[in-house]
Amino acid sequence: MDGNKPEVRTVILRGFSETDRTLICHCDVRTPKVSQIRDNPRVSWLFYHPEKWIQLRFSGTAWVHTDDETAGSQWKKVRQTSRINYCAEIPPGLPAEKPTSGLPDFLRDTTSKLFDNTKARKNFAVIVCRFDEMDWLWLKLTGHCRAKFHWEDHRINASWVIP
Ligand SMILES: Cc1cc2nc3c(=O)[nH]c(=O)nc-3n(C[C@H](O)[C@H](O)[C@H](O)COP(=O)(O)O)c2cc1C
Repeated sequence: MDGNKPEVRTVILRGFSETDRTLICHCDVRTPKVSQIRDNPRVSWLFYHPEKWIQLRFSGTAWVHTDDETAGSQWKKVRQTSRINYCAEIPPGLPAEKPTSGLPDFLRDTTSKLFDNTKARKNFAVIVCRFDEMDWLWLKLTGHCRAKFHWEDHRINASWVIP
């Protein structure tokens, strides 16, 4: 934990809604990121566009979905070949005696069609974050440019900031 905030991790952005102000990612429910979010749901997301030279930092409140409509609809979008990532027998993050994916032997040696979808689904979780702050930074050779946005309910406060 960083202070009492969840630690930093790389994740794949699975969804974004400008209207709902949400950012979505997928994970195994047994990972420490889930317990850290349950302990303190305040999280930040960092993005950088290397061609546009734009950095975005979002902050907001995250929820973990496991057994609801949100988790169900996201699970449908997970390809069969990726569902194998939720099949580790030992929970992610626990120590191992040798380098291993944690997948059962029969899965390592055969095609991914053979695994138990129900078990994989049980380990699957969706993290949805509703952001209420955005820090926008545009790198420019002639001088950088930065703005801050803060939402309170549906009102937005925006201001320029010295970079
Ligand atoms: C390119 C990249 C993408 C990743 N995407 C995800 C992801 O979408 N979800 C996830 O749980 N972990 C993802 N990871 C792994 C996490 O960064 C992290 O190392 C792992 O989940 C362990 O986190 P934990 O401390 O919660 O166990 C990704 C790692 C890399 C390098």
